[in-house]
Amino acid sequence: MIAIDGPSGSGKSTTAREVARRLGLSYLDTGAMYRAVAVAFLDAGVSPDDTDAVIAATTGADIDISLDPDEPWVRVNGRDVTAEIREPRTARHVSAVATIPECRADLVRRQRTLMDADPRGCVAEGRDITTVVYPDADLRLLLTATPEARLRRRAGDLGDKVTEEQLRDQVLRRDRDDSKLVDFQIAADGVRLLDTSDMTLPEVVDAITTLAEEALS
Ligand code: DC
Repeated sequence: MIAIDGPSGSGKSTTAREVARRLGLSYLDTGAMYRAVAVAFLDAGVSPDDTDAVIAATTGADIDISLDPDEPWVRVNGRDVTAEIREPRTARHVSAVATIPECRADLVRRQRTLMDADPRGCVAEGRDITTVVYPDADLRLLLTATPEARLRRRAGDLGDKVTEEQLRDQVLRRDRDDSKLVDFQIAADGVRLLDTSDMTLPEVVDAITTLAEEALS
């Protein structure tokens, strides 16, 4: 089991998926689950300020997620939301889910079940994966990068779909809100820190693949 944490734009999604592909492991994007729940509560017409209703929408959500690094998709309540979870509207509302402890507890439970179910092992990524979801993972890694490097990478991912202001909101404001509950920018005991600011993504993938091979051997 490989667990990778890090803030938005640290390169964790791209690299976690590629490492899973190279090592023939499954891949779990836990952020996609938080995003899918945000779509579900918006679909249900729930206000992000209505904590009880957001909790009910989370615990009642039927989430189905691909663990295949070559074919990512996510369905919530029977609807494919693979594209919608990346839209700015979802990104704007996802902190409402991530900051409610009851929602986190529900999603953490589901994530552990998904990871344990795959006998090949899994590369899982997300803010609390090394500390809360899977502290027993064979390799626990925290990727960091300066705010400038993170903004640059997210801008590359999102292209001209977002304005500068939306980009800063997605990367910096969201990390600030999310870190109120989970301190994902400081490596916990036993978690290796990898500063990716001056690395290209292929370099990050190579470095993590080597660490993962050592940890799994
Ligand atoms: O990694 P991402 O940008 O797709 O994450 C989406 C949101 O979910 C973001 O607000 C952080 C939150 N999240 C979390 O709190 N814990 C996780 N394990 C994964 C994501």
